[in-house]
Amino acid sequence: MTVNLYDHVESIPDFPEKGIVFRDILPLMANGEAFKQATAELAQFARERGVEMVVGPEARGFIVGCPIAYDLGVGFAPARKKGKLPRPAVSATYDLEYGSATLQMEHDAIKPGQKVLVVDDLLATGGTILATIDLVEQMGGIVVGCAFLVDLKDLHGMERLKDYDVKALMEFS
Ligand code: PRP
Ligand code: ADE
Repeated sequence: MTVNLYDHVESIPDFPEKGIVFRDILPLMANGEAFKQATAELAQFARERGVEMVVGPEARGFIVGCPIAYDLGVGFAPARKKGKLPRPAVSATYDLEYGSATLQMEHDAIKPGQKVLVVDDLLATGGTILATIDLVEQMGGIVVGCAFLVDLKDLHGMERLKDYDVKALMEFS
């Protein structure tokens, strides 16, 4: 039976600041059927594009990205928040819906020409995923797809990703 993924996202007003409606996807991850279905749908999108490596930003991008990589039988490379990586790294700084941050990847995490899926739980302004794409492209990777559970469409991240092939399983305003 198909699960309605929307039934597994909770909306929390005024978190982490007044005026933000936080779309919490942890209930979806806590439900085995919903998590498996969402993973399978995004893995199929990736498979059709010949993905060779999955990249996701800290922290929730790890939770969504790792099972997709496992399903495809390819590797996963994390884009970590600044200062966590022991080896030489590439960096990209970005603005968030609330605040700003720098992401880093180990400098040889992606091979030139490698086909990469970048994945996160949620697309808001697009800053996080564009920084992740920047890191992949700094290493010569080819972003063949971007995948999300949720698109917050009023924040227009999808428009900033117009040059990429994007899939989001759910939309919220
Ligand atoms: C959230 C979310 C996305 C990002 C989306 O992460 O998981 O990564 O914001 O926003 P954007 O499209 O405007 O960049 P957050 O930075 O809160 O980090 P977390 O996953 O560590 O909680
Ligand atoms: N990350 C950025 N904006 C968010 C939101 N409104 N809900 C959940 N995660 C987010």
